[in-house]
Amino acid sequence: MTTIWIKNAEIITMNAYDEQFIGDVFIENDTIREIGKNLHYPEADKVIDATNRVITPGFIQTHIHLCQTIFRGKGDDLELMDWLKKRIWPLEAAHDEESIYYSALLGIGELIQSGTTSIVDMETVHHTDFAFQAIERTGIRALSGKVMMDKGNEVPLALQEKTGESIQQSVDLMEKWHKKDAGRINYAFSPRFVVSCTEELLKEVSDLSKKHHVYVHTHASENKGEIEIVESETGMRNVVYLDHLGLANERLILAHCVWLSEEEKQIIQRKRVNVTHCPGSNLKLASGVAEIPDLLNAHICVSLGADGAPCNNNLDMFNEMRLAALIQKPVHGPTAMDAKTVFKMATIDGAKAMGMENDIGSLEVGKKADLNIMNLNDFHMYPSYDVDTISRIVYSTTRADVETTIINGKVVMENRIMKTLDKEI
Ligand code: GUN
Ligand code: FE
Repeated sequence: MTTIWIKNAEIITMNAYDEQFIGDVFIENDTIREIGKNLHYPEADKVIDATNRVITPGFIQTHIHLCQTIFRGKGDDLELMDWLKKRIWPLEAAHDEESIYYSALLGIGELIQSGTTSIVDMETVHHTDFAFQAIERTGIRALSGKVMMDKGNEVPLALQEKTGESIQQSVDLMEKWHKKDAGRINYAFSPRFVVSCTEELLKEVSDLSKKHHVYVHTHASENKGEIEIVESETGMRNVVYLDHLGLANERLILAHCVWLSEEEKQIIQRKRVNVTHCPGSNLKLASGVAEIPDLLNAHICVSLGADGAPCNNNLDMFNEMRLAALIQKPVHGPTAMDAKTVFKMATIDGAKAMGMENDIGSLEVGKKADLNIMNLNDFHMYPSYDVDTISRIVYSTTRADVETTIINGKVVMENRIMKTLDKEI
């Protein structure tokens, strides 16, 4: 058994009572065993003095493309469909096993360094096994899958799949990686978006998802041009079409949802579909500003994601939290998306989207030990001064302030050194 005693931190629990206090956390193997004031475990295998530090639940990003990390800077200043056709698809087509592996390692390193402990990730058509190997090695918690693309005449030949092969390869990967490492790694079917998938494929994915209780992760209603293509081909809006094929349920994660019709919104609400808001990507790809306050008012589960590195040049959750709050203020007023709301989206709501709210997303006894230790004192004149720590995290913290990150009870970064990559370095 391995134990860690973290002492004397300001703990932001994000539990149902929103408790915040100066205290300790005691971890046994992968689980939080005790949280409280003045715990005493001098025999613990590791003791971390977190005086003047803040502990938060690890951040959860529910839409990431690890395979795109190394394309950063190569896809700038274009709108979605041009960006995919001119940049991203040719680059994905050129990937090999090694480039996927290192792209994923780099992405995960960046995520962990900025306090993200769980991701919902979408890979490309080929070599997804190598991204899973990077996930396995680094210790990040992930729901990931191979992209499925069996349609679209502007998709490069190298990325075009036969329906049956796309499904078979996905099922093979699911069998290999789903529920791996005691549930730290899971599989999600990942049809890229309606534009690149046949009805046959989407129906099969719907059936497989139900049969195996496996998530489906896709993009929807991100950009007006994309929506026009979907309407011209199916006669329906994205979410209406996905619902028509049986995909709209609590195991569906829809990235973006910038331009939802009232009917789409109602389906998402009624069927408990999960929405991932990607504010940085939506701005940089000129997709639009998603009406998130409206979705939250409808009690829809909205969490956050940076999307791929080239979408906004940043995999940092601090950036997404800040943008999520700031972009709503000019139109909807200062409290439409307050700091607490976006912090919830970055933690417990992300856990809900992944169906893991009993395991992660808040710091509570019995939950997995996924957390960050941050030093927020550098830029603040009076560390002991009574400030709203969550507001401080959302509006002014940077990734350099994250000192130590623990996932599943394992120290994956300590004093900004990646522990799981020690050998490589
Ligand atoms: N829609 C289909 N593929 C993609 C992608 O790779 N990134 C984004 N942002 N949207 C997409
Ligand atoms: Fe995306």
